[in-house]
Amino acid sequence: MYGIDTDGPGSTSGAVDLRSDTLTRPTPAMRRAMAEAEVGDDVYREDPTVNALEERVAELFGHQAALFVPSGTMGNQIGLRLVCEPGQEVLGDADAHVLTYEMGAAAALFGLSSRTVVSDGGRLSADQLIEQVRPHGDWHLTATAAIAVENTHNRGGGLVQPLAELQRLFDWSRGAGVNVHLDGARVFNAHAASGVPLATYGRLADTASVCLSKGLGAPVGSVLVASAERIAAARLWRKRLGGGMRQVGVLAAAGLHALDHHVERLAEDHEHARLLAEQLGVDPATVETNMVVVDDVPAPAVAEAAKAQGVLVGQVSARRVRLVTHLDVDRAGIDRAAKVLTQVVGELTGR
Ligand SMILES: Cc1ncc(COP(=O)(O)O)c(C=O)c1O
Repeated sequence: MYGIDTDGPGSTSGAVDLRSDTLTRPTPAMRRAMAEAEVGDDVYREDPTVNALEERVAELFGHQAALFVPSGTMGNQIGLRLVCEPGQEVLGDADAHVLTYEMGAAAALFGLSSRTVVSDGGRLSADQLIEQVRPHGDWHLTATAAIAVENTHNRGGGLVQPLAELQRLFDWSRGAGVNVHLDGARVFNAHAASGVPLATYGRLADTASVCLSKGLGAPVGSVLVASAERIAAARLWRKRLGGGMRQVGVLAAAGLHALDHHVERLAEDHEHARLLAEQLGVDPATVETNMVVVDDVPAPAVAEAAKAQGVLVGQVSARRVRLVTHLDVDRAGIDRAAKVLTQVVGELTGR
């Protein structure tokens, strides 16, 4: 079995852990911010730190309101429910996290149908999706209520979606009665790589879920942004799903700290990914953000041999490994990983 974010449980202390950017641990400064956070009962909307985080993220992404949720999965699934009714469908890429890696949640929880197109390695083509949209009011067809996009695209190796395609899809959707949901688990990486303002990405979606716990390094948390009306409905869905949290300002404080200190530095992770790619002979054009995909290698054997030398990599398939750079891997770690992986891949493939 090949997981997207895991190579199985186990102690990893001291290792250079490139399995995922979800593996970061809160920094000492982040922990201090958490310890000092002002808190209240957030279900009563009395947690000042959560309120501050929600206001800040809504503004950053150019939306009226926001909701702090425990995970990207909850942000995505509530986001989809806001823009799609039971019995309608969400259309997206076959490798989209929301449709393929969230355990069928949209169907299991909300009765949403989904349909997928096979994209060019995750890269968004507005026309490819538009061609597949099915109308409302047909006697037989499942109406397409929403289109889900992912930026950066995880299975696409961290690729940044072309702004022109996002714009074209959103412009088209206005006249078509179709909503757009953005899975922005790594939209901060997209912003750091492309220079496109976060508000531009945000405004090209009706609902967007953005993660604080990926490249930004917070231990927990995502934020869903949308109109004030939709976020009021989202608050009810979050409570129904058991996501109503209490003195959760301690976690929101980590998110605020990450927004203050960990956005600019994503460029460093991207530079580290490029360095790794260069040293491993991976085409640097395939490395747009913080992920390096190494193809045509015996993934389980590479993972095992690298682990024995203290370097952890993700196995995406039998012949593909993935390296994700992040806050907890510094330049020395990158050099060490490059050395170990060059040797291991060389020995196992003869290249
Ligand atoms: C693209 C993408 N979307 C959503 C998620 C879900 O986030 P979470 O693990 O916080 O539920 C992930 C997790 O890695 C992801 O990679």
